[in-house]
Amino acid sequence: MEYILDTANVSDIKYMNEYFPIAGVTTNPSIIAKEKTDFYGLVGSIRNIIGNEKMLHIQTTQKTAEKIVEEAEVLAKKVGGNLYIKIPVCDEGLKAASMLKRSGLNVGVTMTAIFTPQQALISAMAGADYVAPYVNRLDSISADGVGVVADIVTLFQNFDVKCKVLAASFKNVQQINDVALVGCHSVTANAELLKAAISHPMTDKAIQGFDADWQSVYGSSTILDF
Ligand code: E4P
Repeated sequence: MEYILDTANVSDIKYMNEYFPIAGVTTNPSIIAKEKTDFYGLVGSIRNIIGNEKMLHIQTTQKTAEKIVEEAEVLAKKVGGNLYIKIPVCDEGLKAASMLKRSGLNVGVTMTAIFTPQQALISAMAGADYVAPYVNRLDSISADGVGVVADIVTLFQNFDVKCKVLAASFKNVQQINDVALVGCHSVTANAELLKAAISHPMTDKAIQGFDADWQSVYGSSTILDF
């Protein structure tokens, strides 16, 4: 399972990159705009923090295939590293994905804003490396976000498709666990949610108990003191 951080907040990225096993960072125009700062300064800082090996997904702002490819070329040059161009699924997006794959440009393609299994399968056929279904946005219209992810996983298995499923748009830990259970390859979530995923009051209580028992015999000494 790949855990990816869905934010452009530099302090969250610094913290999570140090403490959590994140495989990279995903952004979209809304996430970038939230930081209200210079675009290249921001994505450059993110690249510096996570290094060249980890994935950085940046979404195109263009609407035609040719312009999407042009933007990808500039991003590859200015940002570099393990870079994925996020493209919303649509006719121009599919064309751009095929063009990028044929171009030999050293970037991956993540087809985003996926809400149906067929959007995902067709994106994969166009050459996408990842597809990003939006789980909570489906759940919040009384659809089945996890069910859609499960169907995409099944379709990719049926046709031996190499494209990975990068589930996105989470609002709780249960959704993350549920997509993992159906075989989703990657999830992207914000720092708060990933921290919540490892948090449990019984864990806190267990740690307090270990400390109290140790201190009752050894006081404030630690193993390093013996
Ligand atoms: C990530 O790739 C998506 O753009 C993001 O997870 C969407 O999340 P939201 O539904 O919380 O905006």
